[in-house]
Amino acid sequence: MGRKILIGVAWPYVNGEKHIGQIAGAYLPPDIFARYQRMIGNDVLMVSGSDTHGTPIMLKADADGIPYGEFIDKYHGLFVDGCLAMGLTFDLYTHTDTANHWEVTQHMFTRHWETGFVYKDVQRQWYDPVAKKFLADRYVEGECPYCGYADARGDQCDNCGRIYDALELKNPRSKISGTTALEIRETEHFFLDMAKMNEPLLEWIAHGKEHWRPNVLNFTRGQLELRELRGRAITRDLDWGVTIPIGDYPDKRIYVWYDAVIGYLSAAIEWAKLSGDAEAWRQWWDADVNPDARIYNFIGKDNIPFHTIIWPGMLIGYNAGASHLNLPYDVPANEYLNLHGGKFSTSRGNVIGWNTVLAQFQPDAWRYVLTAMAPETADVEFTWQDFMDRVNNELVANWGNLVNRMLGFAYKRFEGKTPMPTALTPDDEAFLAEIKAGFDGVGALYEAVKLKAALQEARRLSQRVNQYLNDHAPWKIIGENPQRAATVVYVALQAIDWLKVIWAPVLPHASEAVHAMLGYDQPLFGRQYTEVVEDARGRHLVLRYDHRGASGVWAAGVLSPGQPLREPKPLFVKLDEAVMAEKLG
Ligand code: MF3
Ligand code: ZN
Repeated sequence: MGRKILIGVAWPYVNGEKHIGQIAGAYLPPDIFARYQRMIGNDVLMVSGSDTHGTPIMLKADADGIPYGEFIDKYHGLFVDGCLAMGLTFDLYTHTDTANHWEVTQHMFTRHWETGFVYKDVQRQWYDPVAKKFLADRYVEGECPYCGYADARGDQCDNCGRIYDALELKNPRSKISGTTALEIRETEHFFLDMAKMNEPLLEWIAHGKEHWRPNVLNFTRGQLELRELRGRAITRDLDWGVTIPIGDYPDKRIYVWYDAVIGYLSAAIEWAKLSGDAEAWRQWWDADVNPDARIYNFIGKDNIPFHTIIWPGMLIGYNAGASHLNLPYDVPANEYLNLHGGKFSTSRGNVIGWNTVLAQFQPDAWRYVLTAMAPETADVEFTWQDFMDRVNNELVANWGNLVNRMLGFAYKRFEGKTPMPTALTPDDEAFLAEIKAGFDGVGALYEAVKLKAALQEARRLSQRVNQYLNDHAPWKIIGENPQRAATVVYVALQAIDWLKVIWAPVLPHASEAVHAMLGYDQPLFGRQYTEVVEDARGRHLVLRYDHRGASGVWAAGVLSPGQPLREPKPLFVKLDEAVMAEKLG
């Protein structure tokens, strides 16, 4: 059943409502890609889950005065709601506070210990004498040692994206007590021996990476060519996170980034268990079983070093043992979608909440606009004016009106059925050939994860149908030449039937509606549902996708003449200036 494609989507911290910048960057693109891959008949496993650990969670939960467990359940549920509303078809969306994820993480930690990729050492760390605590990661802030950004965090600078040792921060302050009178104290930790990975990683990126986005490849190569990778602590003095499987360290936990990236593997294993074939994950992951599987990681650009250096390095360290796992095939990272000239930032208050706006506008309106604006190669500025213009002047005016107009006309004037065509003219044939070529043309763009270009090409083809209809105006000739009118309408409906497929990865809800209005009974896509799973750590909610019966539909089928149509309804809602006034400001 086609090629095995594992789509690993960045695991979002569940510390609040996500904003549309994050959705545009990391969550919508993999769904478009996954839908396309399933449509061409490949065997997709799209997994992710909520990142429930680390100081990003602890800081917010403490500020809200909510126990960690309750806090993550709340925002995990909110994210799952968003996925359902937007139609993000995860085969499994789980979270990291599960018995399965803990087991897989501890297994890898132990393997790294055995292969010598993890070692123990003493680390000097910022210590807050007021709070009497070591300041892990985001518990300390200061000036970035590389770019001077004032609010850089202990683990990473939000401005330049570099990762470093928190001791390198200038003028550090505690996020717990606020004190700047920090001490440096020694504490024992486990380290990932990244120095050992530097050469193997250089070797890895030197071959077969021509399809990587230049920003991802250049950043990665630049970092690796410095040959400065060194040991990185992968445990913390915290009481929330996966426990350490070696020795006796009740007051320490595994670093959130070490466990989160392992989620790509653990979620595939959880999926296999839930599917009743506990070994099925090997088809995507186990290089000894299937080295041809392709693993894609969809992320925002701040996550690049974790996915092109640390995670592949961890896999190289793991593979030094007995069994072998596949490394990522591609890491299509996006730049940022910005608001008012600054990065969307929850802390700075310039956000557009995902769940909030999904309740206000159609999911396909968001899918369309966020793909049309996709920050694939550069940062992009979001404005509500642009949102409204793209919905009204592109989505509604181009594809929406075309479908409504033609299906409405056919339904009314041809007794609710697709008309019977007579002989096609050379012009009809040439037109249909041009639309049909979209399966290859747009398909190649989806395949290359050039989703913005795929959308533009689909839009051009839809416009081409409008042009065909203007040229042949069936509504004008239907009186004097009903046979020719029937042929033109049939040809246009055939083009719409194909374009519905071509648009489907971006506009799945609209395509499903067109599909039904054209009279088909089998849906184009599968079904999303939630389930509560119980394990040794308790109960957790998962989102799943059942794609049975909806694979391999990427094909130029023949629309049957005389096929009964269903009563057409408008596909998209046109946005009213008055309704938009508040957002337009
Ligand atoms: N939780 C991180 C964030 O929101 C992303 C983790 S991606 C993973 O930035 F690969 F580590 F899972
Ligand atoms: Zn910086």
